[in-house]
Amino acid sequence: MKTKGIILAGGRGTRLYPMTGVFSKQLQPVYDKPMIYYPLSTLMLAGIRDVLIISTPQDTPNFEALLGDGGQWGINLEYAVQDRPGGIAEAFLYGRDFIGGDQVCLILGDNLFYGKLDYLRRALARNGDGATIFGYQVQHPERYGVVEFNRDGRVLGIEEKPLRPRSKFAVPGLYVYEPGVVQVAEEVKPSARGEREITDVNLEYLRRDKLQVERMGRGIAWLDTGTPDSLIEAGMFIHTVEKRQGYKIACLEEIAVGREYISREDYARIVAAMPNGTYRDYCARILQEIEQGL
Ligand code: DAU
Repeated sequence: MKTKGIILAGGRGTRLYPMTGVFSKQLQPVYDKPMIYYPLSTLMLAGIRDVLIISTPQDTPNFEALLGDGGQWGINLEYAVQDRPGGIAEAFLYGRDFIGGDQVCLILGDNLFYGKLDYLRRALARNGDGATIFGYQVQHPERYGVVEFNRDGRVLGIEEKPLRPRSKFAVPGLYVYEPGVVQVAEEVKPSARGEREITDVNLEYLRRDKLQVERMGRGIAWLDTGTPDSLIEAGMFIHTVEKRQGYKIACLEEIAVGREYISREDYARIVAAMPNGTYRDYCARILQEIEQGL
């Protein structure tokens, strides 16, 4: 079954004020790239080539200016405007026509994943059977959706930002659903804070016995970037790995040519048109490595 991607990149970004005074959170740099490059790279690496980006009325034109229609990376990008932040599950209402009859993978524009994507590939391979979310152990689960398992690994419940978390397993901002999620999201009642909560969508799948929770191992890095501290920590992480390996994380051109979404010729043309700087130097070096069969 085909999978479409949605990146939810709206919200007020108030916790990053004054950085977000003009540009939204997901346009802020994480070391050497705009934040949204990272979730977009996760989708591209998982083979998802149709992506809807949802953001605010002010910021959507900026995302369009930055990313265009995706043709340069051999993917198809579409845009939708969320008038006000009415909850993560609203992504499916704005995405209704885009999703059509396909499986859908939602990723939050401020979530970064690093490491082998087997967990996501397994989820996509379920081919539209219910919902798959992930569980990742963190030191402060109370900041997130938290999933509770019994001894046999069965899911007992999910709580959104519980004061007393029942486990250390937080739910990252990455979710895979069957196409019927649009109806489920529609039927979810807004919470006390007036939002359609993604946790309520997931609880509905749990009630139907159609919720799968994949545990992400400790070898995966999941970072979020919602506060000044977490933003710089994510930037330092990317910097450290890139510097050590000499390879960039989330270089969209490199992913596009590597996955053969674009030809080598297209890639060479894009690199030639880049302004001088370290990013262009890097992309040019990658082309040389490809040509030398490295
Ligand atoms: O990061 C993972 C966590 O994301 C999950 O563990 C939680 O279960 C989930 O509720 C969410 O928690 P947050 O506290 O991060 O949610 P927040 O309201 O900050 O929204 C997350 C991102 O989605 C944020 O960058 C802005 C964007 N957003 C949010 C809402 C509510 C939108 O674009 N539109 C919205 O209406």
